[in-house]
Amino acid sequence: MLSIRIRPLTQRSQLHRIRPDLIHRASFTGDVRKMAQEFKLKDLTTIDLKNGQKLEADVEGIEEGKVLLVKVKDEVHALSPKCTHYGAPLKLGVVTGEGRLTCAWHGACFNVASGDVEDAPALDPLAKFEIIQKNGGVYIKGDKEGITSSRRSLNLKCQAQGQEKVLVIGGGSGTIGAIEGLRGGKYTGHITVISKEGYRPIDRTKLSKALLADVSKVAWRSPDFYKDASIDIFEDEVTKVDFASKKVSVESGKTYDYTKLVLASGGAPKSLPLPGLKLGELKNVFLLRSVPDVQGIVDAVGDNGKKIVVIGSSFIGMEVANALVQKKNDVTVVGMEKQPMDRIMGEKVGKIFRGLIEKSGVKFHMEASVDKATPSKSDPSKVGAVHLKDGTTLEADIVIEGVGVGPATEFLKDSGIPLEKDGSVGVDESFAVPGHKDVFAIGDIATYPYHGPNGNGTPVRIEHWNVAQNQGRSVANSIAKPNAARPKPFIPIFWSALGSQLRYCGHTVGGYDDVILSGEPEKPSWVAFYTKGETVVAVASMMKDPYMAQAAELMRRGKMPSKSDIVKGVDILEVSIPSEIKM
Ligand SMILES: Cc1cc2nc3c(=O)[nH]c(=O)nc-3n(C[C@H](O)[C@H](O)[C@H](O)COP(=O)(O)OP(=O)(O)OC[C@H]3O[C@@H](n4cnc5c(N)ncnc54)[C@H](O)[C@@H]3O)c2cc1C
Ligand code: FES
Repeated sequence: MLSIRIRPLTQRSQLHRIRPDLIHRASFTGDVRKMAQEFKLKDLTTIDLKNGQKLEADVEGIEEGKVLLVKVKDEVHALSPKCTHYGAPLKLGVVTGEGRLTCAWHGACFNVASGDVEDAPALDPLAKFEIIQKNGGVYIKGDKEGITSSRRSLNLKCQAQGQEKVLVIGGGSGTIGAIEGLRGGKYTGHITVISKEGYRPIDRTKLSKALLADVSKVAWRSPDFYKDASIDIFEDEVTKVDFASKKVSVESGKTYDYTKLVLASGGAPKSLPLPGLKLGELKNVFLLRSVPDVQGIVDAVGDNGKKIVVIGSSFIGMEVANALVQKKNDVTVVGMEKQPMDRIMGEKVGKIFRGLIEKSGVKFHMEASVDKATPSKSDPSKVGAVHLKDGTTLEADIVIEGVGVGPATEFLKDSGIPLEKDGSVGVDESFAVPGHKDVFAIGDIATYPYHGPNGNGTPVRIEHWNVAQNQGRSVANSIAKPNAARPKPFIPIFWSALGSQLRYCGHTVGGYDDVILSGEPEKPSWVAFYTKGETVVAVASMMKDPYMAQAAELMRRGKMPSKSDIVKGVDILEVSIPSEIKM
């Protein structure tokens, strides 16, 4: 779904090894103990909460110090008040009876009793504090740093040992979920990551929104984090997998063996097979998937004031158009649909997005077909214009193609593994590849059975950050705890930044036949319910937290109200969330 990459068509990312160091001597250790002190909570004499309720309280003696009190199963817990992903206030989150706290912004889920991460995209757990009631006041016990940082550092220190070797191909979202999930699940075997990306795992979702080309600003972890966790990351391109002998070959000529293999090679951006737009034909024509792609765009944009044509009006095209127009460039989006993103979001909602970024100055040519790009008159090595089939010519210093991705599975062709028609790898509910023992596939390359609303096991491939990471976590759990119960089901969630923040959960598997839009689209403060018959299959919202998070929890439990209920005015925030998972 989120399927656009922009990469300089004229250059290939340079390959070099990132971390040649291998086995490190350490062992799983608990958190480093710091000096715990008692801190009084301001204006609280007692805690009066019902199960499922939460309260943010100020911590006396610590500037801006806050804590979140949450009651579940008759017990009150004191936790960090902000999500460890991007810092959303968790007082806006959704609490379930069994003790999950879901962040309203992008669906990260924490265990209330432990503070541990249950679902992506957060990586670090919440800090948890002891509560003391005495002398007519309420106190928490903790160290100052734990309170101010609003997180507990994840300590995955490990000494890898034994014969077990997990090899992960790729260095993206699925990989992060898998490797941190493995060490977090106390897996002590060897973990090797082979990624052709050229740097440690980054927050890819920021590339199109903030155009950040500095790895240190988008990397999730420091190199030492992986070193301490005994996770070895090599930069190389996997060229072949021999499943019979359990060996992986890479471009530099080496081979790696494994006992378990996780395929997480993500998507490969497409370019239009049209004159001037094919890979490498003209300079300043870009795709977007990685840091060098952003670097190429940023360099070409220079001091801004450039004429930029974005081909493709889906999420990444819209996000990058929005980011570039903010920097005072002249940006035009060309799309085939009637409204941007209308294939996924529907015309009504697509129109809202268009209005939002039009306000910032982006121009649109919708229901348009591109014919070709031609060189600049002043420098024929560079692009100069994009021509539409209706005869329109759009001058362009820079062209960004956001026209979709395909699964990056070239290296699996002729390996004996069956590929789906779109080149993806079919997997079962545990993300295991049927007929290939010890092989898993996750993320943008995986076609998996969907059990959300209207899913009934229909095979889907979903290009969302959270989906890849949750699948990675799930595989890690199966490997670290082979006797564990079935994988924990999750509802797909994604987000986008289009002037305002869009949140979305569910999946329009089998399509949708109606969109019920409530709220004030012009503000923009609204919720959209995508329905197929009586079933709400997906929910999108802007400035209406925590509707998306609530909808995801209700969908997970088969308790989402029907279309008729929504039309009658049922407010999903008033619907209680049962404990039983039904998917
Ligand atoms: C610019 C951008 C913005 C996005 N924004 C959002 C968003 O806001 N919300 C959202 O939900 N989703 C977003 N997405 C989608 C999301 O990033 C992807 O769905 C997610 O990254 C998929 O994770 P993955 O692990 O499958 O693949 P990736 O994260 O793409 O990782 C794949 C990795 O495999 C490596 N690789 C590929 N082939 C080989 C090989 N042969 N050998 C070795 N390594 C290989 C790649 O270099 C890469 O490191 C965005 C995507 C992009 C490109
Ligand atoms: S800020 Fe909480 S999930 Fe992103």
